[in-house]
Amino acid sequence: MKNLVILISGRGSNMVAIAEACAAEGWDARIAAVISNRSDAGGLVYAQQNGIPTAVVNHRDFEDREAFDATLAQVIDGFAPDLVVLAGFMRILTPGFVQHYAGRMLNIHPSLLPAFPGLHTHRRAIEAGCKVAGTTVHVVTPELDHGPIVVQAVVPVRPDETEDTLAARVLVMEHQAYPRAVRWWIEGLLESTEDGRIVHRHGESQALMGG
Ligand code: GRF
Repeated sequence: MKNLVILISGRGSNMVAIAEACAAEGWDARIAAVISNRSDAGGLVYAQQNGIPTAVVNHRDFEDREAFDATLAQVIDGFAPDLVVLAGFMRILTPGFVQHYAGRMLNIHPSLLPAFPGLHTHRRAIEAGCKVAGTTVHVVTPELDHGPIVVQAVVPVRPDETEDTLAARVLVMEHQAYPRAVRWWIEGLLESTEDGRIVHRHGESQALMGG
């Protein structure tokens, strides 16, 4: 049984999608904990109501990133994670922290990486005149919003698109893409190529198409 520790900063809808898929599909895994840097993160309520242990490590209580990350890692490691899942966790992580979880930490980012790392991805995609947008699940490496891609999900950008309408349709796809990526990881179906890409062992498509 694999232990998943999920880190959130807000509503936690991706965390819920993963927890529900884990239960519904009978993964050989459990959500060992949901940890947030904000005590008001909406997703903590879902976790508490569903018997998932929670913890809060408030970044404001620490002098610098190193100190915050050191305590965060201690709390995470208290739950013996096999995989750390960043699901809307809005903190930049130090290289030491990332190294500690090398190869066992995933993130979801709401753009088709390597396009649009960072914030305001949907607005930037619309302003750039992109005809497709989407989301990327990737292995976390020290560079922000980089790292080998596990799954991408694509949606068309419509002519009358707004940031909100695009975000809503991408989120629907995130709720499909992230559980799938986590399940593949748990089942040992992902492997690294010599040149550092992640491929599905049985060649299953790592691209999802949304409407
Ligand atoms: C998602 O769009 C994710 O890609 C980004 O933050 C958002 C988190 O949403 N990193 P939620 O908290 O999972 O609902």
